[in-house]
Amino acid sequence: MAQILDGKALAKRIREDLKKEIDGYLKKGMRNPSLVVILVGDDPASKVYVENKRKACKEVGINSLVFNLPAETTQEELLNLIKKFNEDDDIDGILVQLPLPSHINTQKVIQAISPEKDVDGFHPLNMGKLATGMDGAIIPCTPLGIWIMLKHYKIPTFKRDVVVVGASNIVGKPMALLFLRKEEAPVSVCHINTKNLKNYTKTADILIVAVGKPNLITPDMVKEGVVVIDVGINRTEDGKLVGDVDFEGIKEKAQAITPVPGGVGPMTVASLLLNTVSIYRMKHGFTPHPLTDI
Ligand code: GUN
Repeated sequence: MAQILDGKALAKRIREDLKKEIDGYLKKGMRNPSLVVILVGDDPASKVYVENKRKACKEVGINSLVFNLPAETTQEELLNLIKKFNEDDDIDGILVQLPLPSHINTQKVIQAISPEKDVDGFHPLNMGKLATGMDGAIIPCTPLGIWIMLKHYKIPTFKRDVVVVGASNIVGKPMALLFLRKEEAPVSVCHINTKNLKNYTKTADILIVAVGKPNLITPDMVKEGVVVIDVGINRTEDGKLVGDVDFEGIKEKAQAITPVPGGVGPMTVASLLLNTVSIYRMKHGFTPHPLTDI
């Protein structure tokens, strides 16, 4: 039976530590860290994610300004809002929830966010720093959360065969880059045009799946002793949340596995808080937060 990698418990500990840290700054007379979150339109899943982010900020003492903009918001209006917060010294982080409505150019919006305030790490400057191994990259929240979880639960990563399924800019690509950096481990990245997925997944010591398809990974596709990180969040017809992995089947074969819910999701939110506090620390002349400095 696999070890269950409890992201919910670890995220709670991180939030408790952050709260203490922020209380310490306030006692010294410093202001609260601050995060702007912008949601355009009313995608139900995005609304839930944004609400989770707002609650988590409140719990630890990060001031969050949440903007729920109507779906008809123009690109220019959104860019103007971002510009305003780029120039506001009291704002540490800016996050625009994705996906955006189709009339808005996502690339333009990502590039409009000041790289220093890019808590998501999606700006090409941050992605480029991550890809080239340069210092100071802000690491996207889901890969950062997975990395922190692997390290916390003492899962060895050096020289392990890593397979990432899903090549999105939000998860798959930056996740692969984290393993490539410093030649930590070889990585195979699979995506929609991978001819025989099982050929790859069978080789994995660490399998990270971020696709959004329930039961994409079945027990016959993994080897005995694999570590499985399930990034998927899918809602079944009866309203249950499930990942991309056949959890019940695979937990019999795996060495360790993340549950859905309670695995990667809470760690993504914790990483957003960490990135925000890290930016705040650097702005005040301190080192980045140690958990983001990987
Ligand atoms: N949509 C899904 N995941 C994310 C994320 O990590 N950040 C943003 N901004 N949007 C998302």
